[in-house]
Amino acid sequence: MKRLLSVMAVSAVVAAPLFVGAAEMGKFKYDDFQKPTDCGMCHTEIYQEWKQAMMSQSFTHEWDEVEYFKLALPHSQKLEKVSGVKGGCVACHGPLAFLSGDIPPKPVKAGTRANEGVSCEICHNITGSTEQTPFNFSFVIQPGDVKQGPRKDVKSPGHGVNFSEFTRSPELCATCHDEQSPYGAWVKETYREWKAGPYSKEGVRCQDCHMYRAPGVPGMGGQERPDMAHHTFHGSHFPSKLAGAIDLALYAEEDEVSPGKGLTVRSELFNGKAGHYVPSGSTEERMLWLEVWLTDAKGKRYALKVQPKGFKGEEYTVADSKAMAYQDIGEIMDLANFKGLKRDGNVPDGSRIFRRPFFNPKGEMTVAQWYTAKNDVVDYRIGPRETKIEHFKLELPKDVAKGQATVTARLLYSQIPSSVGEFFKLSKEEYAPILVNEARVMVNVK
Ligand code: HEC
Ligand code: HEC
Ligand code: HEC
Ligand code: HEC
Ligand code: HEC
Repeated sequence: MKRLLSVMAVSAVVAAPLFVGAAEMGKFKYDDFQKPTDCGMCHTEIYQEWKQAMMSQSFTHEWDEVEYFKLALPHSQKLEKVSGVKGGCVACHGPLAFLSGDIPPKPVKAGTRANEGVSCEICHNITGSTEQTPFNFSFVIQPGDVKQGPRKDVKSPGHGVNFSEFTRSPELCATCHDEQSPYGAWVKETYREWKAGPYSKEGVRCQDCHMYRAPGVPGMGGQERPDMAHHTFHGSHFPSKLAGAIDLALYAEEDEVSPGKGLTVRSELFNGKAGHYVPSGSTEERMLWLEVWLTDAKGKRYALKVQPKGFKGEEYTVADSKAMAYQDIGEIMDLANFKGLKRDGNVPDGSRIFRRPFFNPKGEMTVAQWYTAKNDVVDYRIGPRETKIEHFKLELPKDVAKGQATVTARLLYSQIPSSVGEFFKLSKEEYAPILVNEARVMVNVK
């Protein structure tokens, strides 16, 4: 206890929320945990899957490194209120460093074991949480020979095993997938979204959609199982998981239109596949948007604009190339005269954006989830099994070509606003739009 207190004092952590999970900080050494490659010797397939998943890259991948070392860490050193994130980010993204008290960890190129990310030993040594409804890395962890697992009838030549209800439960995921900012805002709540939605009531767990089952041998020398749990953890970084995640239908209100007249189309978007909102997780920087345009008989394109519904905060859900945001990047990085970046990146004007904007204590929209004081202004994402209906309109110009025209609707997703990605010179794949769905309808221009 004395040791724990001294570590906490060094990090100058007083304010509660982000430090719900501080119980395990600095209690261990890197050497208390085995390396994923050790496990991979017998758990070959699972190791390969984990290696490709974001879990193994949670500390090393480009945007994580940039956001921690260029924004969160310097910010934690100059603003007392957010000082806890120095260790907090690392608890979920490079847990071995957090558990070993190596805070802040060295950058990725130093090759420390922080780079192992959310490793096998993390999930299979976690025995529970200090919280009834977990969040903020509130896991309790017990390294050693015994691995926590989902089965009762297991023997392993490599280690002891303990059947754990917690390993099987969505609460394991909640320890890292739900997060409260130092200002008390819920800045990640995938678990809470799931819990409030239909899937929890039907007993469909996170594991059932993100760790699907198929016949296989989970460990060399072990039994063949009809239902081995695969460690894919595919989420929005995998186009195959996003493709079709939202159903899209498109209808023209008029079959025939003429130049100078209005054309209205109706789109219906149904979240039939995700157990939580889409987008979920890092909501501060995720955008899902619907862009709609008409291509006339000569191939010329005209954008349709979403029709306002009049709800509170709707302005944040309509793409506007003039809107600025993220001014706090300048504050954090000490940039003189920084005016902010385009709020919606390159999303075409008039598109509908399904998002939940986050705001810092100054009321500026932010991608810094740790600096978020408020995010209940508007939440216009698509909930599990929810359908959203949108109308888009175009006043057909006088010179539109007569004949068969096509209206196309594209539903796209991006991890980070392109303006932010470009500002930090990230590789394009970190923020390039990913196609979720597409629909078309024909109209006759007479
Ligand atoms: C010498 C080979 C070997 C090594 C090394 C090894 N395991 Fe295993 N492990 C097995 C076998 C075999 C099983 C049993 C599989 C079965 O019969 O379903 C198993 C089972 C498990 C289970 C499942 C328990 C359950 O309830 O289903 C977990 C979790 C696990 N190992 C984690 C690990 C981790 C983490 C490491 C690395 C720190 C590791 N193993 C290293 C061979 C090994
Ligand atoms: C993010 C947490 C997480 C990580 C990281 C993780 N696992 Fe698992 N693992 C689980 C969960 C959860 C289950 C049980 C799935 C279920 O209940 O459907 C599981 C199941 C297993 C099983 C038993 C599979 C079966 O069907 O019998 C083995 C073996 C295993 N993991 C080994 C590993 C190894 C080896 C690694 C690293 C290469 C690893 N795990 C990384 C969460 C994790
Ligand atoms: C120790 C913390 C921790 C635990 C426990 C954990 N995760 Fe994660 N998970 C993360 C982090 C950190 C990321 C973000 C990785 C990144 O993109 O940098 C992540 C990312 C993901 C993603 C998104 C991947 C993508 O392609 O965008 C999915 C899906 C996911 N986790 C599912 C789960 C499930 C299911 C469980 C429970 C069985 C779980 N996680 C448990 C920390 C954790
Ligand atoms: C019914 C299936 C289903 C269930 C249950 C489910 N997910 Fe997902 N999840 C999906 C699909 C489909 C996506 C892809 C859409 C997306 O990225 O928003 C996804 C995406 C994600 C992402 C990436 C979100 C983003 O937009 O970046 C994370 C993280 C995640 N899931 C974690 C979880 C956790 C944690 C749980 C349990 C609390 C869970 N999921 C339960 C189907 C499911
Ligand atoms: C309670 C656990 C937790 C804490 C604390 C946490 N993260 Fe995360 N982080 C996650 C999870 C889980 C995801 C994945 C969510 C998703 O896929 O949408 C994530 C995603 C991210 C991403 C997005 C990765 C991508 O490819 O888009 C970045 C960047 C990131 N975190 C940086 C940070 C920084 C910097 C901090 C500290 C200020 C931090 N995180 C604190 C759990 C956490």
